[in-house]
Amino acid sequence: MRLRGKVALLTGAAAAIKGELMGFGGAAAHLFVREGAKVVLTDIRDELGARAAAALRADGHDARYLHLDVTSEQNWVQVADAVMAAHGRLDILFNNAGVSFPGKVEDITVDIWERELGVHAKGVFLGTRTAITAMRKGGGGSIINTSSVMGIVGSPTSPAYSAAKGAITLFTKSAALQYAKENIRINSVHPGYADTPLTLKRFSDPAVRKELLDRTPMGRLGTAEDIANGVLFLASDDSSWVTGSELVIDGGMTAQ
Ligand SMILES: NC(=O)c1ccc[n+]([C@@H]2O[C@H](COP(=O)([O-])OP(=O)(O)OC[C@H]3O[C@@H](n4cnc5c(N)ncnc54)[C@H](O)[C@@H]3O)[C@@H](O)[C@H]2O)c1
Repeated sequence: MRLRGKVALLTGAAAAIKGELMGFGGAAAHLFVREGAKVVLTDIRDELGARAAAALRADGHDARYLHLDVTSEQNWVQVADAVMAAHGRLDILFNNAGVSFPGKVEDITVDIWERELGVHAKGVFLGTRTAITAMRKGGGGSIINTSSVMGIVGSPTSPAYSAAKGAITLFTKSAALQYAKENIRINSVHPGYADTPLTLKRFSDPAVRKELLDRTPMGRLGTAEDIANGVLFLASDDSSWVTGSELVIDGGMTAQ
């Protein structure tokens, strides 16, 4: 029970149904409740998210679903208010929502650029800002931001995604410095290629899959659980002296 009594808010966490392909947010939600946390799942896929929360409740867990478009300042205020009204505290924020629009620089429209930067960079900024106010009231907390290996090295296929994930990497460190004394820890997680709803279509192409496997020294793609295990470490007090760090979980990809 590494998260006993803690309240966790997760973004981009609708794909959280046992027996179906889960995303990192969904897999993290399952580990969080297993460890005793109360979870608030959020996403823009409301039907799926509501079903996922209902299934967690049916298993005896404290879970709810709320609509949260991470690019909306107003949505963040509404969700923070709802969490504080229901639980009176916020201990963990997993800033995890994401989108992916591969394309060569010449083909990236301003709309795509703004969506990548909006969901990732602005979304993480708004979430972090919102959570700090709530966490301060409880004497601290842990914020985990989903960057990517492509927030450390350049993506060969998705320059706008790399730019957005790189923004998360350094925003995380800067924010970590500002709130370290208040016991609000802020870290980033950097997944390699993993099978999730986001990547299902692209990674199902045998040629693409082979290319990704060739780039991954451990010879398999990641699972949502591989990533969620690292997120759980950062969320729990096991990482109580860890802030501003980059946790790479990529089967060795960025070691080469
Ligand atoms: N799967 C991978 O190989 C991989 C690798 C590195 C990083 N990531 C990152 O991991 C995170 C989780 O992705 P995943 O692969 O688990 O897939 P996923 O599809 O389960 O998660 C992404 C979720 O974000 C939600 N979302 C999109 N726009 C949103 C918005 N404006 N507001 C709120 N939610 C929104 C989607 O509805 C979706 O549920 C993303 O940030 C992604 O970029 C994934």
